[in-house]
Amino acid sequence: MLNGKRILLIVSGGIAAYKSLELVRRLRGRGASVRCVLTGAGARFVTPLSLQALSEDRVYSDMFSLTDESEMGHIQLSRDADLLVVAPATANLLARMAAGMADDLAATVLLATDKPVLAAPAMNVRMWTHAATAANVETLRKRGVAFVGPNEGAMACNEFGPGRMAEPDEIVAAIETMLVPRQRPLAGKRAVVTSGPTREAIDPVRYISNHSSGKQGHAIAAALAKLGADVTLVSGPVALADPPGLRTVKVESAEEMLRASLAAGNVDIAVCAAAVADWKVVHPAAGKMKKKAGAPPPQIELAPNPDILATLSRPGPQRPALVVGFAAETENLVANAIEKRQRKGCDWIVANDVSPSTGTFGGERNTVHLISASGVEDWPTLAKEDVALRLAARIALHFSGPPKAEAAE
Ligand code: CTP
Repeated sequence: MLNGKRILLIVSGGIAAYKSLELVRRLRGRGASVRCVLTGAGARFVTPLSLQALSEDRVYSDMFSLTDESEMGHIQLSRDADLLVVAPATANLLARMAAGMADDLAATVLLATDKPVLAAPAMNVRMWTHAATAANVETLRKRGVAFVGPNEGAMACNEFGPGRMAEPDEIVAAIETMLVPRQRPLAGKRAVVTSGPTREAIDPVRYISNHSSGKQGHAIAAALAKLGADVTLVSGPVALADPPGLRTVKVESAEEMLRASLAAGNVDIAVCAAAVADWKVVHPAAGKMKKKAGAPPPQIELAPNPDILATLSRPGPQRPALVVGFAAETENLVANAIEKRQRKGCDWIVANDVSPSTGTFGGERNTVHLISASGVEDWPTLAKEDVALRLAARIALHFSGPPKAEAAE
């Protein structure tokens, strides 16, 4: 809940501004008060009257309005809030923030504030991926501005890719993470989580992959971040938004996933939830493979992929203190998982039955067993988010509790 929290919402000019109306409603529903600053361009997408009605407060837009300055100076406006939220944050406003400009009320307030700032970017995919925007975002991140989104998806401009503003619920969750003090037992711990499938190229248009949705791995990364861990999520191709409050590195192949996992540096916790393709194509074709009349289908030579979990589990000074693997099995679940834990050298295995009848792959729920050296815990069927929260809590306990229980392992 956000009872008593004061949000200054800056709405700049993008088609996503309509979602900001819903954001105001959700924030107020959670007990926050919302005061809005609307840029000139923003007012072309939503009216001051809508924001005023939903926030039940006046809407500020003109820096030079005498009334505003006498009743509420722009410095005051920025200081009277617990958090400034820029949603949508257009490429233009991000550029002005990065440059430290003060050419309208929104930019001035953002320059004058001493409060945390959260930005929810929204723009065309090419504008988001442009080097200028990337540099501005990097600059702002370094100065402590937090970001939520953008998400990938179809855009109003008929293009597809990252640039859609995060949904109101995601923005509310990011705000709560910033404003509501939580128990953060994993603060100071670093974690890497692999998630999703990998794609092994056969040629530029074909690949070998699997049905992993990444839901469980992404939920684990988010749960670890919620408990305060500094998380790098290494994700294969998935249709999920990047979870807020952590770093997401996107990869395609198993080899890229291994490189990115190692590049996360020295970590305390590694959770390998990805469904890594076991084999890669030895010689992917440089051009699209063509059918030749009468010729037999091509023979594709496969070679084993590196095992990321086994690599991270290797003893040595770099080894994370706790390495957790998954076992996706369709028969002899627990026995296979116990054997897998030993073979891969990890500390814990989360074993789940992925037989089609269970609906685990791509589904919302999961029934798992947690296997460590001290035995097997059978968990009830839970939503994947709850499996993730429970696993993150167990990990926190592992680090906070006296080393005895695990020492018995
Ligand atoms: N894993 C990995 N790298 C691989 C293969 C698997 O990191 N190249 C990890 C998975 O992320 C998971 C665990 O190893 O944490 C087990 O994955 P699973 O597919 O169940 O096992 P396999 O290694 O494929 O073994 P098997 O073929 O015997 O099922």
